[in-house]
Amino acid sequence: MNDKLTRTEANNSCFESEIRSQSFAEIPLTGFQPGPILNPATPDIHHQFPHTSQHNNQRLVGHADPKKNSKTKRIAVLFSGGPAAGGHNVICGIARQLGTRHTLLGVQHGPKGLLAGHFIPVTPEMLKKIANTGGFDCLGTDRTKIKTQDQINRVRAVVTEHQLDGIIIVGGDDSNTNAAILAEALYDLKCAVVGVPKTIDGDLQLGSDLPISFGFDTATKIYAELVGNILQDTRSSLKYWHFVRLMGRSASHVTLEVALQTKPALTLISEAIEAHQHTLSDIIHQVADTIEARAKANCHHGVILIPEGLIEHIHEFNALLQALDREAPLDAHHQALYDSLPPSIQAQLTHDRDSHGNVQVSMIQTETIIIDGVAKELQNRGVSFAAQTHFFGYEGRCGAPTMFDAWYCLNLGRVAAQLALDEHTGYMAAICDFESGGKAQGIPLTALLHTEERHGSQHVVIAKAKVTIDSPAYQYLIERQPHWAKTDCFSSPGPRQLWGPTAYQIPMSVALNQHYSDYCLPTAIAQ
Ligand code: FBP
Repeated sequence: MNDKLTRTEANNSCFESEIRSQSFAEIPLTGFQPGPILNPATPDIHHQFPHTSQHNNQRLVGHADPKKNSKTKRIAVLFSGGPAAGGHNVICGIARQLGTRHTLLGVQHGPKGLLAGHFIPVTPEMLKKIANTGGFDCLGTDRTKIKTQDQINRVRAVVTEHQLDGIIIVGGDDSNTNAAILAEALYDLKCAVVGVPKTIDGDLQLGSDLPISFGFDTATKIYAELVGNILQDTRSSLKYWHFVRLMGRSASHVTLEVALQTKPALTLISEAIEAHQHTLSDIIHQVADTIEARAKANCHHGVILIPEGLIEHIHEFNALLQALDREAPLDAHHQALYDSLPPSIQAQLTHDRDSHGNVQVSMIQTETIIIDGVAKELQNRGVSFAAQTHFFGYEGRCGAPTMFDAWYCLNLGRVAAQLALDEHTGYMAAICDFESGGKAQGIPLTALLHTEERHGSQHVVIAKAKVTIDSPAYQYLIERQPHWAKTDCFSSPGPRQLWGPTAYQIPMSVALNQHYSDYCLPTAIAQ
């Protein structure tokens, strides 16, 4: 017994040992041909990305004859930004597509490691160990933004020294902005730079061309299990309102998906709050109304979901954050709002922005501001109320990938490798049309770029895709939510499944927004 237990050390739990041997269907992939034009680059982008924007105004679609490649290539891969489940399978997919003829190098510690030229070989032993497991730990990751000429010169020197023919960057919107910058900067060196869409936030998506980033499915299923468990607890203990803040940065895709899977009493969606210019007082009244209505029906419990980045979308706080970013003294109005906040929240609002200029919303406990206001409001109304708080974020980023993410990532890796082998620089690997088994695409990165203000100055970045209030997924929430609030008819989806029909479930919001006929896709994913 002790020996058996000891054998499970070092990532060899019974589950991890078993999951490594799972295999997944491969999408058809030979070569690429030009497809329809995406958004033409704006003059501004064209000016900054003259080579890639000129050559890449069309998306690439699969099913062309394989390109004749006589040269043996050296391709490097790196992770960038926060971890997301399935990253290891991206590496397995790249290695599978490159085969034994080409060389795959792993860059340690993300963009920082690329600047330092820290490479390790990706060996068959490594691939065997990481297949279908969570985390980015085989290489590591970081959030360094590549922007200065010194950094670009450094990468050019590393590419030349290591004779790289391609770099695959696995990352979110900001990391794919890095990929676009490097594709342009390495154009004359003939080093193809390809992005892979990763982020649990789901804010790197492009309609039917890129229905979702990888990692979103696993993270939302982990959070939905936890929220389902809490909902079950509320109906058992009958005394608490649980305020659950969910990761996802500025976008509310994660919160919306978890709501569709669990059906809590109330879900706040940042984008809707911004669209309606709601203030903190509006939100407090909405929450208090829900709690009071349930109390009148003798129901003193429930769950309220709050997106991580809500604070940035509340009318007066958005203006305050912008004023803080200007680093000038606050005007009297903003100073009064700032002074009204507890010192812990003041410190959270002024915390350093990340290297890409994003407010670090994971550190701002918006739920406590809301609970304070709701408690006062309910006291005035004579309604008793007890609250618990939760923040689910890091729990969801490194779990073993769901069947969907494992399948998706293996194939995204294959698409990225094929783009690099075929010397298509400045593209993001994508798979669309999951319902009919998945189709390979290359999306020009310059078509995704725009100029926006971050931390008080203008930056060229990939725009974050937000929840749109006319999307089918949001409309479904709005239609059903009053019923969920009134009847306590939540659902508890349980742990993510590795076999049986629900193992092949994709995110419900994706299935709704893509107008699929079902959210279970066994024919696409199963081997
Ligand atoms: P990416 O955008 O890099 O995918 O990261 C997503 C995320 O998990 C956000 O949801 C969260 O706000 C942020 O990372 C937390 O960052 P950090 O890991 O630096 O604490």
